[in-house]
Amino acid sequence: MNPGKRLTAAAETVRPGKRVVDVGTDHAYLPAYLILDGKTPHCLAVDIGAGPLENARKTVEKYALSDRIVLRISDGLHAVAPEEAEDITICGMGGTLMTKILSECKWLKKQDLHLVLQPQSHVWEVRTFLLLNGFCIDNETVLEDAGKLYITISAFYDGQEREADNGFCYFGTLLQKNDTLTCAYAENLYRQLCIRLQALQNANVCNDESAWLQNCLAFYEKNKN
Ligand SMILES: C[S@@+](CC[C@H](N)C(=O)[O-])C[C@H]1O[C@@H](n2cnc3c(N)ncnc32)[C@H](O)[C@@H]1O
Repeated sequence: MNPGKRLTAAAETVRPGKRVVDVGTDHAYLPAYLILDGKTPHCLAVDIGAGPLENARKTVEKYALSDRIVLRISDGLHAVAPEEAEDITICGMGGTLMTKILSECKWLKKQDLHLVLQPQSHVWEVRTFLLLNGFCIDNETVLEDAGKLYITISAFYDGQEREADNGFCYFGTLLQKNDTLTCAYAENLYRQLCIRLQALQNANVCNDESAWLQNCLAFYEKNKN
């Protein structure tokens, strides 16, 4: 099966042979692809909604994967036990919801736990959570799918405390890369910040937000290749 470029990028970031929990699975394309591709022996596919899990059930039936994919209703990771997860994938939702799901999980700070995250907005909230909670962001990749740019974050729990610098939370490791897509993605973020700061300045507003914007812009200008 072909789950599309975006979910293929998530699948490529999953570690081979690990038990995967896919949160917000909807149609379960990612779990199905991981298993059919031989990358993953077993997946737990969870979703908060009965409708999405019905979509997932159809995919599981279509590819005869009922012995390899378990479907379960769960709000975030609430109905998942720690021993069920080695790699956790959360894709296709906003960064605020993703951060809420991560922060509500009591057992997330587990040695060697690997997160594969594709936030579709508010990515800085996700990075801030990761850095403040002992996760190391080891890689971020940008991909283009149907004319839109997406980011995939790979993070491991190692228990180290890190500073959540505004600029780093906003741009992450993107400025360390030279490829065209990543540069375009970072430049686009930079332009959005410039527009917002200009709007505040035009309205003579000088507040926490304008200071935050200035920090982020200075980080970009200092670190861009
Ligand atoms: C846009 S779909 C993404 C599907 C798939 N992960 C992808 O990337 O294509 C988002 C899914 O997240 C589910 N969802 C939203 N909030 C959730 C939560 N708190 N816990 C689990 N699933 C949730 C929705 O029901 C929906 O099926």
